[in-house]
Amino acid sequence: MEKNDDIMVDNIEQIPHEIQPGRLDVVRLAQITDCHIFADPNGCLLGLNTRDSFEAVCERLIREEWRPDALLTTGDLSQDASPQAYKYLADYFKSMKIPTFWLAGNHDDSDTMELYLSNSQVFAAKQILLGHWQVLMLNSAVKGKVHGCLAADQIRFLERALRRYPDKHTLICLHHQPVEVDCEWLDQIGLINADELNQVVEQHSQVKGVVWGHIHQEFQRTIKGVQWIATPSSCVQFEPGSVDFSAGVEAPGYRYLNLFSDGRIESVVHRIDNVEFVVDYSIKGY
Ligand SMILES: [Fe+2]
Repeated sequence: MEKNDDIMVDNIEQIPHEIQPGRLDVVRLAQITDCHIFADPNGCLLGLNTRDSFEAVCERLIREEWRPDALLTTGDLSQDASPQAYKYLADYFKSMKIPTFWLAGNHDDSDTMELYLSNSQVFAAKQILLGHWQVLMLNSAVKGKVHGCLAADQIRFLERALRRYPDKHTLICLHHQPVEVDCEWLDQIGLINADELNQVVEQHSQVKGVVWGHIHQEFQRTIKGVQWIATPSSCVQFEPGSVDFSAGVEAPGYRYLNLFSDGRIESVVHRIDNVEFVVDYSIKGY
């Protein structure tokens, strides 16, 4: 085991992917999540064409004054886990010319992602080094379940990565929410072993932020100096504060993150405007 320790642990590739950020004092990242792309280009979620909204979100991102050093995509990238959906995404991300990383959500299939989400701009690496920072992409998806759980190999990967780079500030990414988000129906389908993640976070002061998708709404809370952050979907939104499933009226969006060399995180959600979207709010399910 020890011989290949740094390369492969529990089948998780551990060769860090290194990116030289454009500036020394700040790493610029963007997060796009819950794209729910279908194999069928006309595929709609609650009446909304998810490819159209995804492309509108990406076009807004490309117009940013500062080009991100990397793009983090945090699960539910496809609605039907189809090769066609992942191939479309891989081609689209490649055309954006931003190094892109991914992790799986409850709608995804990791094996299919491995096969199709890979090209000169799209990487399966789960440990990314960017100057003073490292970003870790964890898989919280559980086959056949909507809720999430970090399996033992994911926790080990996380601890090992933190031990290996104790001097780098760390941003942890996953799909499922590890804290309650004040939506009763969503709180029942979050990360069921959030305590295990919290324990690791508490033991490693270099962890400065945890970001996720899944809840299709903006969320940001600072707990003991760590930022806990969720980002809107690039398609349909969920209504904050809802007891049962409820689609939200806000526009699709993404998050732009600045990670400073002193460990501070500043981030902002940008939503698209001037685009007509028809969401069927009468559909009561997801
Ligand atoms: Fe989702």
